[in-house]
Amino acid sequence: MSVQIRFLPDDVTIAAEVGEPLLRVASRAGLSIPTGCLMGSCHACEVELEDGKIICACISSVPPGCQELTINLFVDPTW
Ligand code: FES
Repeated sequence: MSVQIRFLPDDVTIAAEVGEPLLRVASRAGLSIPTGCLMGSCHACEVELEDGKIICACISSVPPGCQELTINLFVDPTW
């Protein structure tokens, strides 16, 4: 089963598999998420889900049970 992942603010949509690591989905989409520790402790890789939840991309993967997911990468540091 595949899930449509939409990355903001670039507005790039790509199909991903449930369980696929978010960092890999982003790199397949041609986007890069900044990373540091890759262990969920430095929070360099934080992204925001459509419901406003902040997650660490390095330890997250595509969740089951949804057909599309919007992920905000915060690449614009002006806020
Ligand atoms: S890279 Fe450090 S928390 Fe994800």
